[in-house]
Amino acid sequence: MPQRIGLLTRDTESWCSNQLLKSMVKKGIDPLCFSLPDLVARVTIKPYVTTKEGIDLLKELSAILVRPIGRGSLEEIIFRLDVLRGLERKGLIIINPPRAIEISADKHRSLTLMEEQGIKVPPTIATEDTEAAMRAFEELGGDVVIKPIFGSRGMGIGRVNDPETAWRIFHALSYTRHVLYIQKFIPHGTRDIRLFVIGDRVIAAMYREADSWKTNIDRGARPVPFEPSKELEDLAIKVAKTIGCKVAGVDVMESQEGYIVNEINSQPGFRGLQLVTKVNIADEIVDYILENIRR
Ligand SMILES: Nc1ncnc2c1ncn2[C@@H]1O[C@H](COP(=O)(O)OP(=O)(O)O)[C@@H](O)[C@H]1O
Ligand SMILES: [Mg+2]
Repeated sequence: MPQRIGLLTRDTESWCSNQLLKSMVKKGIDPLCFSLPDLVARVTIKPYVTTKEGIDLLKELSAILVRPIGRGSLEEIIFRLDVLRGLERKGLIIINPPRAIEISADKHRSLTLMEEQGIKVPPTIATEDTEAAMRAFEELGGDVVIKPIFGSRGMGIGRVNDPETAWRIFHALSYTRHVLYIQKFIPHGTRDIRLFVIGDRVIAAMYREADSWKTNIDRGARPVPFEPSKELEDLAIKVAKTIGCKVAGVDVMESQEGYIVNEINSQPGFRGLQLVTKVNIADEIVDYILENIRR
């Protein structure tokens, strides 16, 4: 039975979207591409949610795969996630679940939940108060990473070990109404480990080798083949479960005190990882969705 799966993406031309679309077609699925800003949601009027062209999502689709939901104002992001939550309540399978997307986007919230489960994460202090932030800077050893609480792709992240610089940054960020999110700098050389989780399996992993401490592929880090131990796989699966992600990129730093989880990505790209693994990542994602539809 051919099933329609929605591919929620802002860029149907992107490499990852292309791989996923190819994989769906190969498996006899008729994909529907749409983007969140194009959705129309109705209350008391049917159909509940359509694309702007009028395609009824609840009627047409069995599942939606969510790729990066894109930037937006706070109200745009909340609205987009609300629409996804509504579709989920009405029975559509959404991967990742909107709740998991929401938690992953918020670095403070996701780290708090991980810590509650005994997962080792970097010591972190978040505040809106500039004086408290200066005390945090000292408390964290005077060598910190300051990052946006809703970050992405390594942008706007800086290592600061000079109090004057820290003071200026905190005041500037506070002036523009940002939460001050301050993390102890964790020495980890110039690489970290990315583990790609689908369901309750790690399907592939890699080292991300950079020229500096920032290991984002988007900032020029290189993928290097890596075979994770059972310990690391279990750690990544636990992180994904804690946050509620069915598909996740879990990033782990190798520090002197062992593995430290830096973050979880709920809409992970996989172009770099695909270069260093034999597993077809898009096929694995699509197979996982099909399994969930059948269940
Ligand atoms: N506390 C830290 N100590 C050392 N390096 C860090 C720390 N936090 C982040 N980094 C480095 O910076 C990169 C980007 O930070 P991250 O928190 O993952 O933000 P983003 O969401 O933008 O990817 C990480 O992949 C890691 O290499
Ligand atoms: Mg990251």
